[in-house]
Amino acid sequence: MTAPVGPGPVWDVVNGLAAFGALSAALELGLFDALAEGGLPPDDLAARLSAEDVDAVALLADVLVSLGLLTGDGRAVALTPVAERFLVSGSPASMAALGRLSPGPWSGWQQLAETVRSGAVAAGTRDELDAMYPELVRATAPTQRAVASGVAAALAERDLWPSSPTVVDLGCGSGAWLAALLADRPGATAVGVDLPGVLPVARETLEGVAGVTLLEGDYLEVELAAGSADVVVLAHVLRAEPPARARALLLRALELLAPGGVVVVADYPRPDPVAAPDPDRAAVLAGARHELLLSLTMTAATDGVGVTVADLRSWAADGGAALADVLQPVPRQTVFLIRPEAPAPENEE
Ligand SMILES: C[S@@+](CC[C@H](N)C(=O)[O-])C[C@H]1O[C@@H](n2cnc3c(N)ncnc32)[C@H](O)[C@@H]1O
Repeated sequence: MTAPVGPGPVWDVVNGLAAFGALSAALELGLFDALAEGGLPPDDLAARLSAEDVDAVALLADVLVSLGLLTGDGRAVALTPVAERFLVSGSPASMAALGRLSPGPWSGWQQLAETVRSGAVAAGTRDELDAMYPELVRATAPTQRAVASGVAAALAERDLWPSSPTVVDLGCGSGAWLAALLADRPGATAVGVDLPGVLPVARETLEGVAGVTLLEGDYLEVELAAGSADVVVLAHVLRAEPPARARALLLRALELLAPGGVVVVADYPRPDPVAAPDPDRAAVLAGARHELLLSLTMTAATDGVGVTVADLRSWAADGGAALADVLQPVPRQTVFLIRPEAPAPENEE
């Protein structure tokens, strides 16, 4: 007799919200920072957090141990290497600020069924996202700096990184990409484009960096010189756009390239659609849960639905270009290098 199926997967999903709540509360309380110097028993931890309820602190700590974010021996809790690297606020790779913001506006999740039904995100959610962007781009800056530094090294290895490059960053956010790319290129010329609410963050990051111009406006409309850039960056922008605008943006980026240039796309591609039934599809989707959920995060708050590698290939081909390389400079951060295809040699009779 086969055992009846249990509700485990349903509970796992329901508990996902509680797990997020635990992480969020721990970050807000400063729990990971309080353990940065070493492990503590719950009563000392509660005192460090100025928390009255020692039992609640002990329970929260046990939950974080069960989630793999703390270790514990039943007496004291301490940071795991993951928490030390990603959840302590002073760490260079810190996701402490991002951890609380990255699911996007909460109203988008509450209204997701209606968004799916109607095909449109509520205006209030969109406004909330716009208002969140300055904080969000600041929060993603440590990770994006690390990604961009890895990309600069990869471009140099491929002879795609001139000593005085011209760089355009469409949707430059915090300016982290430009700051990291230009760090070892004092002769560079760079243009960053973003919306008025976010541009001050880039201005702050890039203060004192020579050769940078920041332009306010829609990256599909701002006037930019065609045929002049060695590198055009599209980092985490395509998935938030509806497919027609995402395609137009990639085509625009290709038009901006000088001969020999490269478009750098950073995104979280979800799996390509399949032409015929694939018995392994469920396993493929399970392996891409992170990318799928980040794509759904876009659907909850923007007109985007995420991007697939097939989308990038097809849009690149429409612009006479092709995917030249895929990089993972930082775990879970995928970067595509897209380059114009060399014209086919003419037939010599
Ligand atoms: C997820 S953030 C990525 C920021 C940056 N590229 C990075 O990777 O750190 C998306 C950025 O695109 C900007 N953005 C969204 N729509 C835009 C538009 N129509 N024109 C220019 N920038 C836009 C947002 O303001 C935000 O800074």
